[in-house]
Amino acid sequence: MAFEMFMAGRVRFGRGAVERLGETAKKAGGSRALVVTDPVLREMKTAERIEKILSEAGLETWVFADVEPEPSVETTDAGAEFAREKGCDLVVGLGGGSSMDVAKAVGVLVTNEGSAARYQGLGLVEKAGVPTIMVPTTAGTGSEVTFTAVLIRKSDGFKGGINDEKLFPDYSILDPELTVTMPPRVTAATGMDALTHALEAYTSRQASPFSDMFAEEAMARIGRWIRVATQNGRDLEARSEMMLAALYGGVALANAGVGACHALSYPLGALFGISHGVANALLIPFVARHNCQASPERYAAAAELLGYPQDEEEPLPLRAELCADVLEELVFDLDLPATLEDLDAGITPDHFGELAKKAMGVSRPMENNPREMTETDCVNIYREAME
Ligand SMILES: [Fe+2]
Repeated sequence: MAFEMFMAGRVRFGRGAVERLGETAKKAGGSRALVVTDPVLREMKTAERIEKILSEAGLETWVFADVEPEPSVETTDAGAEFAREKGCDLVVGLGGGSSMDVAKAVGVLVTNEGSAARYQGLGLVEKAGVPTIMVPTTAGTGSEVTFTAVLIRKSDGFKGGINDEKLFPDYSILDPELTVTMPPRVTAATGMDALTHALEAYTSRQASPFSDMFAEEAMARIGRWIRVATQNGRDLEARSEMMLAALYGGVALANAGVGACHALSYPLGALFGISHGVANALLIPFVARHNCQASPERYAAAAELLGYPQDEEEPLPLRAELCADVLEELVFDLDLPATLEDLDAGITPDHFGELAKKAMGVSRPMENNPREMTETDCVNIYREAME
């Protein structure tokens, strides 16, 4: 048994926790804050509320609300330029994974020269950034506790992460009340992203007793609560459980990495604009079916954690396969797109070669995958997912 443990900074969890953002910002040493968010949260006045909390705590505050659903290097660079111009000493990421990823990247770009593209890779960031505080409004990405910012380079369509410990957020404020307005489809898709983090961390070659603990807790909670949260967004117990599950999924992924499903999802986002959660939800049953015999105990245990008791009399390979069935059923119940055809994004078998090549290029998740992956395997999975 040998492993390392990664944890982000402080996490404050609870209903109404966001009211203490000002206090947290001051503790972080901030006096000039940039709130990084998206146009929807500006429209909904959530950004305004955050700005007010920070201003009342005495911070000079600006809002950068240009983050797109699949965030780009270019937008990140614009945000960083703005933060440098204003002399910001604190960055607040408000929103889903996209806003938080851009915020984390902007945090280090304030002190590191040049474009975000320079730092896509592992461990390329030179200097520590300014302090960052994450305020998620979805329950899924776990970005609030990971050291990754995934960005698309518009110039060549490459989607890849800045992976560096300097991106670990200093503080995260998890307030389930901020998630109650999330529409059902987003609740379902981001929840499935959290589930994919947990399952891929659980079956990763890098899994450790530490990451397992978080992955198991995340899967049990998601199995129990994702349908409830999707059907009734106002159910605060379900919202709290999902937010906690997403946090746990994030800790699991920060420690054990993700697998082939994430690698296969990235090009769907980069080339066809499919949102990360939707792409993962669609692919995870197929990836689980492809992988399950490479780690049957883990997949069988995952099915059980998701709420399907195991019949120990059944042979292990069948119990492992059950995990793929359970995931398929979940996607169906949540009314998410179940095939590439359902996406209506113009994806045809002619694209599989390019998609597979790009997926194989997402090397770290591919290396973590319990079953070794080839380009042909990728094509096959896309093909199975077609209809
Ligand atoms: Fe993810």
